[in-house]
Amino acid sequence: MKIAVFASGSGSNFGALAEACEKGELNAEIVLMVTNKPEAFVVERARKANIPIAAVRPKDYETKEAYEEVILAALRESEAEWLILAGYMRLVGQTLLKAYPSKIINIHPSLLPSFPGKDAIGQAMGHGVKVTGVTVHLVDEGMDTGPILAQRAVDVIDGDVEKTAEAIHAVEHELYKDALNKLFC
Ligand code: GRF
Repeated sequence: MKIAVFASGSGSNFGALAEACEKGELNAEIVLMVTNKPEAFVVERARKANIPIAAVRPKDYETKEAYEEVILAALRESEAEWLILAGYMRLVGQTLLKAYPSKIINIHPSLLPSFPGKDAIGQAMGHGVKVTGVTVHLVDEGMDTGPILAQRAVDVIDGDVEKTAEAIHAVEHELYKDALNKLFC
């Protein structure tokens, strides 16, 4: 399966997916890495992995539609079949949703529908939950609201945000690969 990965930050999920493709553990090829942040560390990772990069700054365009049209042209050129969001810190708009119906997937660091949006791990710890987790879901026009495909629970490590985040990221890297393999088979 030809996939494009969207990311805005450090890109540890992007790295895990790229490694899984390389090792044959994920039945996919990353044909494009799309970012809205050309300065993000994920760009470095893509460069090292020889994966083509589309770095498109939203502020260079007057509308979300114009921004997504530029991304769409790069996606078409790359022949990507699925869009895989991995820390892409923007809501996907109608241009991409219409071009890839039911073909856009996201990963989120909580057991949705609890704690959607930014800082899901901080939100969970702030509420004092003992168990949180990871969700892989189809993307719709909402914020972390699409149909759920896979979930895995992660224990909160008492009062320790860093250790809990580390445990969540480790589960993300496994769960994303497993969930995508199920979709692509
Ligand atoms: C992950 O926790 C992912 O679930 C969320 O954003 C974070 C991205 O982390 N959507 P990374 O950039 O892949 O390390």
